Amino acid sequence: MSVRAIVLAAGKGTRMKSDTAKVLHDLCGRPMLWYVLQALRAAGVTEIFVVTNAELQERVSEFGATGVLQKEQLGTGHAVRIALDAMKPEGGRVLVACGDMPLVNAEIFSAVVAASDGGNALALVTARVPLPSSFGRIVRRNGSVERIVEARDAGSAELEIDEVNAGIYAFDEGALREAVGRLRNDNAQKEFYLTDAVADLVRSGKRVAPVAASDPAHVIGINDRADLALARREMNIRLCAQHMRDGVTIVNPLSTSLEPELKIGRDTVIYPNTSIGRLSEIGERCMLGPNSRLSNARLGDDVTVRESSIFDSSAGDRTSIGPYAHIRNDSRLAQDVRIGNFVEVKNSRLARGVKASHLTYLGDAEIGEETNIGAGTITCNYDGKKKNKTLIGRDVMIGSNTSLIAPITIGDGALTGAGSVVTKDVPPGQRVAGNPAKPLPNK
Ligand code: UD1
Ligand code: MG
Repeated sequence: MSVRAIVLAAGKGTRMKSDTAKVLHDLCGRPMLWYVLQALRAAGVTEIFVVTNAELQERVSEFGATGVLQKEQLGTGHAVRIALDAMKPEGGRVLVACGDMPLVNAEIFSAVVAASDGGNALALVTARVPLPSSFGRIVRRNGSVERIVEARDAGSAELEIDEVNAGIYAFDEGALREAVGRLRNDNAQKEFYLTDAVADLVRSGKRVAPVAASDPAHVIGINDRADLALARREMNIRLCAQHMRDGVTIVNPLSTSLEPELKIGRDTVIYPNTSIGRLSEIGERCMLGPNSRLSNARLGDDVTVRESSIFDSSAGDRTSIGPYAHIRNDSRLAQDVRIGNFVEVKNSRLARGVKASHLTYLGDAEIGEETNIGAGTITCNYDGKKKNKTLIGRDVMIGSNTSLIAPITIGDGALTGAGSVVTKDVPPGQRVAGNPAKPLPNK
């Protein structure tokens, strides 16, 4: 059975009080809308049409969905009509969902599609929620769903109903097209309500099947930033739980922030106040945190990162970073590298066994195997106009507090004395010291 989906997301989201469209607000590293589309795809939906406002329309292709611009927000029924106008009639099922429900899962979508089969014109998800509530109410007659009444149009008896409309529907496409064509806007909000399609279908003798949501928390809509924070907490708990089930120890999930689509190897331990994001890949048996931030980081096995930040960079097996280090801008640390406290590494390549243990800046540098960088070393890479490279060979001893004035090359096995200001290239095996550094007599 072909299933296409319409996602309603053109609403202004006034209560977010934001210049950004509501469904583009971030939730654990992805826009809210991303989660809804992921769940739809996981439920086997083949094509997704997102009803957008002007701002969202510009961004919607990033989500692999087709945007349908709704110039004026005249109600959910109007939004669906506009989407149907853009969809070639195929006669399958059409799932309708909202873009501001990021906690939904594929199971709910699959369940509602399954329930729409077997002669039903519509299946819709219902939930029991505490009252008062702003959800539309499910009105039943003799046990069957008869209509939905919006909270703003409901009488006092109807407002007592705690069975509500979650806003997730699976329609027979032909029945939906007919019902949407007949909607009117004679209600409290002067809007075309999609929910009026329920009474319309029932009147014309069609069958409507309710599907109870197993957990009402999954169908909560985000309306303001307080809702968003609650959803973020829930989503983060889900993400942590998934990695813990896969063999990662998370000491305190409530103070650990993860994103979707991370790879974290088994027996890695994450200590509190640590966030990992942007497609990071972490090997096995790593120790991360506390108080660390990793974004687009690729770490091998047995890597230690303590109280440090790593952005857009990688580190090989057994490398140790921190405390208080900052690795950024496409830095690549090989295996067995040691980066100690208060060291910044920017856009640099460090070969196997390099050590920079204290108070150092390495920018635009390439450093060969087993070289030791003494405390307080600075690569002076910026001449006021451009960034210059520092090339350091293998088995080099850079003395404490050395300034390397780039562009500069230090040959294999060379040595700089403590406090040197090195302004000229140093040949392999040469020892230099002083300001400016001069060759020392051979021992
Ligand atoms: C809607 C339902 C209500 C249900 C609730 C569940 C209607 C009339 N009511 O109410 O029964 O309990 O969802 O959350 O459908 N949108 C558009 N274009 C429009 C209007 C809305 O794209 O012209 C989008 C919004 O961006 C939002 C969704 O449709 O994502 C729902 O609209 P909203 O106004 O929030 O409806 P509710 O009052 O929440
Ligand atoms: Mg809403």
